[in-house]
Amino acid sequence: MKVLVVGGAGYIGSHAVLELIKKQHEVIVFDNLTSGFEDMVSEQATLIIGDIRDKSALDAVFKEHNDIDVVMHFAAKIVVPESVEKPLEYYSNNVEGVRVLLESMQEHNIKNIVFSSTAAVYGEASGVCFEDDPTQPINPYGETKLATERMIKWVTQAYGMKYLIFRYFNVAGADQSLKVGLKKDQLTHLIPVAIQALIGLREKLLIYGDDYDTEDGTCVRDYIHVSDLAYAHVLGATYLKDGGQSTTINLGSNQGYSVLDVAKTVQKIGDMTYEITERRPGDPAKLIASNEKAKKLLHWEPKYGLEDIVNSDFEFRKTLKK
Ligand SMILES: NC(=O)c1ccc[n+]([C@@H]2O[C@H](COP(=O)([O-])OP(=O)(O)OC[C@H]3O[C@@H](n4cnc5c(N)ncnc54)[C@H](O)[C@@H]3O)[C@@H](O)[C@H]2O)c1
Repeated sequence: MKVLVVGGAGYIGSHAVLELIKKQHEVIVFDNLTSGFEDMVSEQATLIIGDIRDKSALDAVFKEHNDIDVVMHFAAKIVVPESVEKPLEYYSNNVEGVRVLLESMQEHNIKNIVFSSTAAVYGEASGVCFEDDPTQPINPYGETKLATERMIKWVTQAYGMKYLIFRYFNVAGADQSLKVGLKKDQLTHLIPVAIQALIGLREKLLIYGDDYDTEDGTCVRDYIHVSDLAYAHVLGATYLKDGGQSTTINLGSNQGYSVLDVAKTVQKIGDMTYEITERRPGDPAKLIASNEKAKKLLHWEPKYGLEDIVNSDFEFRKTLKK
């Protein structure tokens, strides 16, 4: 298969590139490097630097590579508080960017798109989420992802194209090679933040609330290893290319771990201090993915558990410290 990975220099996209290459697929990466890194793009992929809102740049890619089987889209801005402060930037990048991408795909007869969406589209839902549950995002980031999901559905239907929308839950960890991982200046996700507290890059881990309606009172989430997630994209692209129907699929582990479970898993590696503080607004008590659909349609199953995720992020973060 020949795959264009838009946003392939970022955290999740670079892992998808690795999984595609492991399976001998041909990969082109298109990325503007705003939050991605050139050195995270496998040497076996072709990197084109550009912005997806630049239609002429995309047209040039599709003109040269008119045999692309599937486009994977990871090129979003993803910081929730920033999306509240600068919603126009989020609509421009996340929604307008995909509109231009779809327009260029349609004009060049490129038929299949795999789109990265998020559990944020379920809003404040609590418990196990199924793909046909109501969607009600509570911030501009989630809104832009849902608006894009809807646009993709209308556009693919109108022009005889197909989509696979993946809604990710809490993605963490790093590829075994440790060449790629989450390397942002300001980390907000629980596992890397806890690892930073472990390796002395921050004083302690703050746990927001221990009075939720869960077993130990802290929030419960579904964690998925980024390599498992990336591999699901290879299966998803193959599914579309082989004639599978357009659909939306959750990617998670079907298992919930509390914030304290995560903290204790990190403490198995070494000393890490945490402090319980006030709840944050908008944190649902429990968010778990039903992954039955992914298992059934893609024959996908996560290989890695919480300890693997934590350990791989720890190993990756050690490489950054040097
Ligand atoms: N990280 C998570 O936990 C998570 C959870 C749910 C969903 N997602 C989704 O997964 C996708 C990838 O997230 P990530 O964590 O890898 O983010 P990331 O910021 O690491 O990667 C995004 C990549 O896209 C590139 N990019 C952004 N805007 C672009 C544009 N206009 N033109 C070209 N390139 C552009 C960036 O330079 C970067 O390389 C996003 O769509 C996000 O909504 C991520």
